[in-house]
Amino acid sequence: MKIYQEAIEAISKFTMPDNVGFGKVLLPVMASCEYKDGKWGELEITPYKKLELDPTCKVLHYGQEIFEGMKAYNFSGNGPNFFREVDNMDRFNRSAARMAMPGVPKEIFINAVHEVTRLGKNFVPKRSGESLYIRPFMFATECNLGIKPAEEFLFMVIASPVGSYFQGGSLKVLIEREMIRACPGGMGAAKTGGNYAGSLLSAKKVKELGFDQTLWLSATDKDSVEEMSGMNFFAVINGELHTPKITDTILDGITRKSLITLAKDMGITVVEETLSIATLIEAIKKGECSEAFACGTAAILQPISSLHEVSGQAYQIKDEYGPISKRLRETLLGIQERTIEDKFNWVTVLK
Ligand SMILES: Cc1ncc(COP(=O)(O)O)c(C=O)c1O
Repeated sequence: MKIYQEAIEAISKFTMPDNVGFGKVLLPVMASCEYKDGKWGELEITPYKKLELDPTCKVLHYGQEIFEGMKAYNFSGNGPNFFREVDNMDRFNRSAARMAMPGVPKEIFINAVHEVTRLGKNFVPKRSGESLYIRPFMFATECNLGIKPAEEFLFMVIASPVGSYFQGGSLKVLIEREMIRACPGGMGAAKTGGNYAGSLLSAKKVKELGFDQTLWLSATDKDSVEEMSGMNFFAVINGELHTPKITDTILDGITRKSLITLAKDMGITVVEETLSIATLIEAIKKGECSEAFACGTAAILQPISSLHEVSGQAYQIKDEYGPISKRLRETLLGIQERTIEDKFNWVTVLK
């Protein structure tokens, strides 16, 4: 690994506003590593800078790109520490395999994440709910217009000190009955740009209708709940915690699987099965669905107050954190921020 003196200088001149928002303020350093001739080059830590790309760079045309979203926490100066970082790396490499890209070796992935965090350690916010959001990504850099898997790639890591993802309270969610996010055999389980690009038209509709998020349904039956565009979905029905089981059309969320482990540990029954939207709506109408929430690294856990149809029909759930979502959120965040014992060994403190 090569750390450029200019990167150290850039960090020493950096100042951070008190209110950072989400993803707007970037650390002035970045990590990059090139893949060429069938092998990875040296990991470099440089000042944050613009990239120069040839107009035929394959990612610009064919979207061969993947990314991850992870956080370093530093609550009250307890860190910086990471949460299940190897799970992010493993998912990154599963996304790479699906998108015909080379895997990134552990040494490169973890060193890049750690070194960017180490340089920026004075800028990992210390208030609860804040963190350093870390964005590893990789894209095809080979230049020519042929439609075939690229043979040259760039792996990079950038990082952004962040506050909370949602400013408002609970979420109003549109049931998307027209468009589809993913299909069996497709790339829905990969964290690749195309999945997010494909969700944006629905996001636009959601905003125009005055809602916050899209709830995607299965391409196969147009009834099974899948997930949101950047978060997994949970509902509490008759006291049991329900979430769609992971298939190749759903992103295997690290927050999701952590919440499942925590819920089971609390003695809550967890049901990971197909979750029909018709059944869910019935349960809401009968008062059997007492809570629903969305979860993900960026958002942590956010209550869902209501589901909506395009027609205007609304199904009200609960306008705030219910007892299960509140307890799960506090426990998860407590482990991430190191105020609660990490009995599952999820946390790595930066050395
Ligand atoms: C489509 C999608 N689903 C779910 C999640 C939640 O995953 P995680 O909890 O690992 O952040 C994300 C965010 O990464 C996502 O982009």
